[in-house]
Amino acid sequence: MNDGPIGIFDSGVGGTSIWKEITMLLPKEDTIYLADSVNAPYGEKSQEEILKLSIKNTDLLLSKGCKMIVVACNTATTNAINYLRENYQVPFIGIEPAIKPAALKSKTKTIGVLATKGTLSSSLFNSTSEMHASGITIIEQEGTGLVPLVEGGKMQDAQTRRLLEEFVNPMLEQGIDYLVLGCTHYPYLIPLLREILPEHITIIDSGEAVARQTKTVLESQELSKINGSKTKHQFYTNADVSLLKSFLTAVVEPVQINVLDF
Ligand code: DGL
Repeated sequence: MNDGPIGIFDSGVGGTSIWKEITMLLPKEDTIYLADSVNAPYGEKSQEEILKLSIKNTDLLLSKGCKMIVVACNTATTNAINYLRENYQVPFIGIEPAIKPAALKSKTKTIGVLATKGTLSSSLFNSTSEMHASGITIIEQEGTGLVPLVEGGKMQDAQTRRLLEEFVNPMLEQGIDYLVLGCTHYPYLIPLLREILPEHITIIDSGEAVARQTKTVLESQELSKINGSKTKHQFYTNADVSLLKSFLTAVVEPVQINVLDF
């Protein structure tokens, strides 16, 4: 079991932002990344559909011998992780918008959360949000349209800039000093967001925290890789292979990318 890969899935290429953090922190661990791009965006689907897709992704990763699963998607985490944890034996790591650190550090006591409709409407998000909301104003904004733009590689397009401005300007007017990115596709929009946002606004996402949690769970459950074999990373996508490759710029060695039908 220890020498199995860490399975990571997302509705598409966004979770590669999490994959990068995990491989930086755990350079010896093998990974299998699953990009379900054909079904993106998950954020516009019903909870039932998100759950079905999360089960399908989990089954596929487990059939490839994964020892744990990282749900590198806020939408899938907030809608499906409780079910996954109750119904499978392996450990699951999820990702949720980083409201807690933003709420603790905010000086204006006003923070913005940009996430998908599926995340913002989930009961898990709403209970976490309530837990940290005391004395804090949380301005929620659905990022509808952003995931397809990132999936299309349009991280610097005028259309993307316009949409981001439309989403963040009302937050700025209400005095936010922290912007929480609650979707793993959005870190790829940070260069554009930095151009749009005033300098004093801090952008935070949960990527590093998820990698740290993955390491903690591996160690506490004694699941760290034992054999000294060369690290292997595999990628599966049911859409554009070259697009996925372009998101993997941190990869030093050539990686194997498989095209797969779900
Ligand atoms: N990366 C997913 C997330 O973190 C995007 C969801 C979607 O496909 O809408 O929420």
